Amino acid sequence: MKLSDNTVLVTGGGSGIGLALARAFALHGSAVIVCGRDSNKLMAAQKENPAIVAFSCDIADDKEQQRLVEHITQQYPNLNVLINNAGIQHNYDFSDSDDHTRRIDEEVSINLVAHLKLIDRFLPLLTKRPSAAIVNVTSALALVPKQSAPVYCATKAAMHNFTKALRYQLEDTSVKVFEIIPALVDTEMTKGRGKGKGKITPEALTAEALRGIASDRYEIRIGKTKVLFALNRFLPAVAERIIRNG
Ligand SMILES: NC(=O)c1ccc[n+]([C@@H]2O[C@H](COP(=O)([O-])OP(=O)(O)OC[C@H]3O[C@@H](n4cnc5c(N)ncnc54)[C@H](OP(=O)(O)O)[C@@H]3O)[C@@H](O)[C@H]2O)c1
Repeated sequence: MKLSDNTVLVTGGGSGIGLALARAFALHGSAVIVCGRDSNKLMAAQKENPAIVAFSCDIADDKEQQRLVEHITQQYPNLNVLINNAGIQHNYDFSDSDDHTRRIDEEVSINLVAHLKLIDRFLPLLTKRPSAAIVNVTSALALVPKQSAPVYCATKAAMHNFTKALRYQLEDTSVKVFEIIPALVDTEMTKGRGKGKGKITPEALTAEALRGIASDRYEIRIGKTKVLFALNRFLPAVAERIIRNG
C-alpha cells in the first residue's frame, strides 16, 4: 500500500497515536481528515498542518456518525484509507458493588460497535477506489488481558478477531485490511502508567506502523507486542503473569 496521495480518515486523530498517524500520512503527501469529540484538540491539529482537516464527531453517537459519513461521502469521495483508532479505557473491578454499566456501555460502543458501523458504512466508498485500506488499531491486550481493564481487553480481542475475518471477506477486493497492535505507548490514555516498561512514543509507533503498511504486512505487531506474541505462544502462563497486573 503506498503512503502518498491517499485520502485518509483517522478517528481519534486529535491526540496520541491518531495524531501521530495523521501527521505521518500528511507528511507522505496524503490528505487527512481527523475526527474526535474535543474540537479544541482537532482545531490545533488542523492549524499546525495544512494537509489535515478537522471534523468534530462522537463516533459512538449514531446520528453524529451518520453525519460524518455523509460529510466525507460528499466532500471527500476519494477517501481510500479508514483508520479506526479512537478508543477509551476504563479501569474497574466487577467484584466490587459499584454500578459499572455506564462505563461498560461507553467502552463497548466506542472501542467496538462504532468501528464496526463505520467500516460497514464506508465500505461502499472504499471498494470503489482502486487501492484502499482499513487500518484497525487494537492492542497487545487483545492477546493477553490485564486484570484492571476487562472490558477494554474484551473489546480489543473482539476487534482483533473481527479484523482477521474481515480480511478474509475482502481478500478479493481492492481493500486491504491492516491491524496495528501496539503495546505501551506514551499518550493521554497511559499517563502516569508503565514507567520503565518500555513505553514508546506515538512517533516511534507510527514509524513502525507505516513501514508495515508500506510493505503490506497486514498484522503489524509494534515493539514489545512481538515479544508478547512469542511468549504467549510458547510460554502462555509467563505471558499472563507479566501482563495481568500491567
Ligand atoms: N497508549 C497505549 O499504550 C495504547 C496501547 C495499545 C492500544 N492503544 C489504542 O490506541 C488508540 C489511541 O489511543 P491513544 O493511546 O492515542 O490515547 P488518546 O490520546 O487518549 O487518544 C484516544 C483518541 O480517541 C478519541 N476518542 C475517544 N472516544 C471517541 C469518540 N466517542 N468519538 C471520537 N473520538 C473518540 C479521543 O478524542 P476525543 O477525546 O476528542 O474524543 C482521542 O483523540 C486507542 O484505540 C487505544 O486503545 C493505545
